[in-house]
Amino acid sequence: MKPTKVTLTFDDGSAPIDLPIVSGNLGASVIDIRQLGKHGIFTYDPGFLSTASCSSEITYIDGDEGLLYYRGYPIQQLAEHCDFLEVSYLLMHGELPNQAQKETFVGTINRHTMLHDQLNNIFRGFRRDAHPMAVMVGVVGSMSAFYNDSMDVRDPKVREVAAYRLLAKVPTVAAWSYKYNLGQPFMYPQKRYNFAENFMHMMFATPTEDYEPNPVLAKAFDRILILHADHEQNASTSTVRLAGSSGANPFACVAAGIASLWGPAHGGANEATLKMLEEIGDVSRIGEYIKRAKDKTDSFRLMGFGHRVYRNMDPRAAIMRETCHQVLDEMGLNDDPMFKLALKLEQIALEDEYFVSKQLYPNVDFYSGIVMRAMGIPNSMFTAIFALARTAGWVAQWNEMLSDPEARIGRPRQLYTGAPRREFVSLDKR
Ligand code: CMC
Repeated sequence: MKPTKVTLTFDDGSAPIDLPIVSGNLGASVIDIRQLGKHGIFTYDPGFLSTASCSSEITYIDGDEGLLYYRGYPIQQLAEHCDFLEVSYLLMHGELPNQAQKETFVGTINRHTMLHDQLNNIFRGFRRDAHPMAVMVGVVGSMSAFYNDSMDVRDPKVREVAAYRLLAKVPTVAAWSYKYNLGQPFMYPQKRYNFAENFMHMMFATPTEDYEPNPVLAKAFDRILILHADHEQNASTSTVRLAGSSGANPFACVAAGIASLWGPAHGGANEATLKMLEEIGDVSRIGEYIKRAKDKTDSFRLMGFGHRVYRNMDPRAAIMRETCHQVLDEMGLNDDPMFKLALKLEQIALEDEYFVSKQLYPNVDFYSGIVMRAMGIPNSMFTAIFALARTAGWVAQWNEMLSDPEARIGRPRQLYTGAPRREFVSLDKR
């Protein structure tokens, strides 16, 4: 039998407090501590290692078993049989679409892919060498000023249109941030392509010649999107929820999510992985870097290894690993020194006692970085691509939060460790 309550007792004779234990459909139960505040007690959990910040029906992860489900479907099945827009529909609406629903959804997303024409001017305000993520934070945030009819977030219909706009337009913003870096003309989205092909077209085509996306690469790219579409209450998703809990508009919330994703411990890991591989430079230097990663006095970490939740192989990494080999074969890159180095590093880390004992497996971003590089996508775009995939999850989670009658403005408490009350000292006496 599962316990249904826990009693908190105090060593100073205060009355005990009964707290209910709530079980979800899968995974760990939670102690419902909401009433503690009334008793003047708060819990302390920096980094939310033991705290569920919300209830959610969208994504389930079992880090010990290496399981990831979107709306109950194992990620392997979705990656095998669906495309990214079907998965996005599933995340947003809770069910896989039937044929008619899929056609309508794809048509709707295709209709929303263009940006307001004046947004071109916002791009042009950035330095040419601006990082694509900096441009994305700015441009997506500035969309708040262009789509005034997406501001009333209490209206479910408005939320739906805002979600579609974000899913459709963020890829255009990402691709244009790259084109702007290059100084090439922006390529407008094309309805004749599927979602992945359209993004490749906006990234790689130019007005001067025809462009045909390679189907193996388009499929690999679509898979990257599926695998990154949602991942329960990670840092950026929690950021979107927290920003949205105040009633902030969806573009501002997703811009906040993009900002959070940018960090190297989160979405920036794929870019950081490639930078690290470039720094290592040669198979002969792997040992030196492994040694540094193990050294407690050195802040260096092996990028693309480890995960907060997975203490087993990240199921996304296993799928991406397979895709990685397909893409390297397709591009004839199996003998490329950089990819050889990556695969050697993977092998050594998988066998090394330190990494094995700490269950630090290569994560999805280790392989997705390699795949994207093989596709000709520059390192600086990796996190931007993660962001366009994760937009599907962000808008689904944001909408779920705003539809939840239990949702309140997010307002964590703190353990104050600063100075106690003291008297002001005037400037001449300090
Ligand atoms: N290289 C070397 N040692 C590591 C690494 C690493 N990549 N990751 C964790 N460790 C060690 C860490 O030093 C600690 O050792 P000890 O117990 O002796 O103090 C132990 O493993 C546990 O690490 P932690 O910092 O408590 O784990 P965490 O859950 O706080 O951090 C992480 C998770 C992903 C931030 C971390 O593993 C890391 O920095 N990895 C590299 C960055 C990376 O690849 N991030 C992508 C995550 S996947 C994409 C996403 O979902 O956002």
